[in-house]
Amino acid sequence: MKEDKITILGIESSCDETAAAVVENGRTVLSNVISSQIDIHTIYGGVVPEIASRLHLENVNGVIRLALKEAGKTFDDIDAIAVTKGPGLVGALLIGVSAAKALAFALHKPIVGVNHIRGHVAANYISHPELKPPFVCLIVSGGHTHLTIVRDYRDLMIVGKSVDDAAGECYDKVARAVGLGYPGGPKVDKASKGGDPEAIVFPKGEVRDRPYDFTFSGLKSAVLNYINKANMTGEQICVPDLCASFQQTVVDSLVSRTMDCAKAYGIKNVALAGGVSANSALRAAFQKACEENGFGCFYPEPIYCTDNAAMIAAAGYHDYLAGDVSDMTLNADPSLKL
Ligand code: KG4
Ligand code: ZN
Repeated sequence: MKEDKITILGIESSCDETAAAVVENGRTVLSNVISSQIDIHTIYGGVVPEIASRLHLENVNGVIRLALKEAGKTFDDIDAIAVTKGPGLVGALLIGVSAAKALAFALHKPIVGVNHIRGHVAANYISHPELKPPFVCLIVSGGHTHLTIVRDYRDLMIVGKSVDDAAGECYDKVARAVGLGYPGGPKVDKASKGGDPEAIVFPKGEVRDRPYDFTFSGLKSAVLNYINKANMTGEQICVPDLCASFQQTVVDSLVSRTMDCAKAYGIKNVALAGGVSANSALRAAFQKACEENGFGCFYPEPIYCTDNAAMIAAAGYHDYLAGDVSDMTLNADPSLKL
């Protein structure tokens, strides 16, 4: 197998972005095309799975063609096709998987089925060419909150996780409750800017005897109760204060456990991954905590934090090198574990 300049076409369709990218050697992005469905799902206040599948179907071929064109490559230049096989919405995943299988079959190219969450971790290899395992990685997305140790590119150990809501899910629910709408995370992030993070004290969830696990359901309930109470008494809610206070509570919980984990395991480099890692308060607090503890601090550029296909190609590169490729039996797995 030639190991210099391996070119992978990545395809991602697990939720509401149809994406394709061309990446060399798991690090160098030649193109990164994302067709976002956010404007349409916003009308309904969240992702409608049937609409997501239909839009993926309409857009996937054009997005792939554009990714090749922008990279200045043809199908002949591609060594392998990496596609998200799960977790995600089954109908949405199936569009990407079917497109990838059709291409692999027609072009006689290998196909690699990639775990979406591992893709988020691999986004760090794109933004930080010098980053190598081992490192601690906090994965915070719409569906997952996992504190992990990346022991090697394909060897990930889960140290802690959320026992209830994912961090992103909590952002989305709070945003909806406060009337900011979908997608919640970026809107809460923006609304927090003028707010006082100390204005309201919300409970920091702890999971007894599991120092690296997270719990956000108590926080979510406390925010909803605060809003309900204010509505009943006719009290005016200060949205920036509420958002900033909620955000501070989430960020404290995420950053403190991540630092504790790195200290306990003696690991010097610490990274963030997933959609919530685009959050400005989390990035700032994480950077500060890393500096205080003398840790190397890594997070992807914002475009590689949220869903994209470059990260899928980056993760797929290591599976390809290891010979972990699939065949035409590859299927979508909506509840694929990390
Ligand atoms: O990783 P991602 O794009 O998709 C999943 O794999 O789930 O993450 C989406 C999540 C959503 O919950 C969204 O609200 C959150 O990431 N998110 C943010 C920000 N940008 C996206 N949360 C907080 N602050 C942000 N700036
Ligand atoms: Zn994602």
